[in-house]
Amino acid sequence: MTTSFDFFNYLDNELYCEDVKVKDIIEKVGTPAYIYSKNSILEHFIEIRNAFEDVSPLICFSVKSNSNLSICKVLADAGAGFDVVSGGELFRVLELGVSPDKIVFAGVGKTSEEIKYALENDIFMFNVESPAELANIDRIAGGLNKRGRVALRINPDIDAKTHDKTTTGKKENKFGIDFDSAGQLIKDIDNYKNIDLKGLHVHLGSPIYSPDPYVQSLEKMYKFLQESLEDNARKRIEYINIGGGYCISYTGENVKKPHDFAAEIIPVIKKLGCKVIMEPGRFIVGNSGLLVTGVTYVKTATWGKKFIVCDAAMNDLARPSLYDAFHRAWPVNTDVMMPEIELPGADRSANDRLELVDIVGPVCESSDVLAEKRWFPDVKEGGLIAFFSAGAYGFTMSSTYNTRPRTCEILVDCDSFSTIRRRETYEDLITGEKEFLDAS
Ligand code: LLP
Repeated sequence: MTTSFDFFNYLDNELYCEDVKVKDIIEKVGTPAYIYSKNSILEHFIEIRNAFEDVSPLICFSVKSNSNLSICKVLADAGAGFDVVSGGELFRVLELGVSPDKIVFAGVGKTSEEIKYALENDIFMFNVESPAELANIDRIAGGLNKRGRVALRINPDIDAKTHDKTTTGKKENKFGIDFDSAGQLIKDIDNYKNIDLKGLHVHLGSPIYSPDPYVQSLEKMYKFLQESLEDNARKRIEYINIGGGYCISYTGENVKKPHDFAAEIIPVIKKLGCKVIMEPGRFIVGNSGLLVTGVTYVKTATWGKKFIVCDAAMNDLARPSLYDAFHRAWPVNTDVMMPEIELPGADRSANDRLELVDIVGPVCESSDVLAEKRWFPDVKEGGLIAFFSAGAYGFTMSSTYNTRPRTCEILVDCDSFSTIRRRETYEDLITGEKEFLDAS
């Protein structure tokens, strides 16, 4: 039996990550655990870089998708830059020794402290999201005797046809600056004495399954540059940052690949004549990670509904409860073949090896359902289940809700594996509170 999903393969009824049995990792580190494939991450990074090589982009990995230091180091060593959205993310990549001229900083609410921290470290560029933020960067840069290099983040009012909660380029979204305001800012740019305007930025949302919204927004940018800006202002727009959002397959179905996006996007970039920055996150790490959970109990109600209660929960993988996101799940050890493609809601009642189940966590909320109405092979208490496509926005969105220690993270490289974040302990969870007990 050889179903495979990216660098995760079933061989003789056992799930492997690269050349390591997932079961062997879990025997050592316990559950729940995030497990990543280093070579999958590298392959995706190289795939997107090659797809766009015609325009030699600076690829800034979006740290929010997976901020583990060792993962960022794998990408830094491969030549990636980084897209950060907080002082904390900036701290992470500076700790790694990443060259500041490969760091871009986005976000609607950068605080003065964060701006100061970024300026002191000479980051490459701020993606500025409002006139007020531009004025603040100018003021702080002046005080530090530094130059603030900026791209204006445009809100192009384009629907990227993704989940409502992860759409960022429609006019009602909080992100970016509308074209008219951006035109005015550019006209007035010389009033900002400590600012170097370097480019424009756009990020439409995530995940995006078609190149069309990228092309539409870049066409709008082109029109804006041609029609709304004077020659000398246009010349300052040296960079175009086209953001992230490139999709991955969560179901095993074929989805558009970077070269499909590149084929449509590159001609418009060439028309714009700018240097390119990209900010992919999910595409690089999404399908490079699993969340592995242990089965704690199996319970079947008298009226027939079966629950598999596992030891991972919504605090470990928030996407299903937040966005109704679909993550494939399958036992780590099973003689039932994982379907090559699994679509949400597909009917597999004809297969008598499968039963309809909800896979749930122990958190005290009815939304703590990791997989709903799935046709699933028999699993026993003590068994292991893998949730696929969990490498992006998995661990980074985890919390300690219900005072649950966060999981460990493991990186596999060919036939070896190592811990890249230890499991939190109960002590970790009360550090920061304990010292105040006596005072209260
Ligand atoms: N650039 C900017 C400015 C962003 O806001 C984001 C993601 C990215 C790049 C990277 O997008 P990616 O290539 O990873 O799609 N938590 C949600 C996703 C939120 C994305 C936020 N911004 C999820 O789990 O689906």
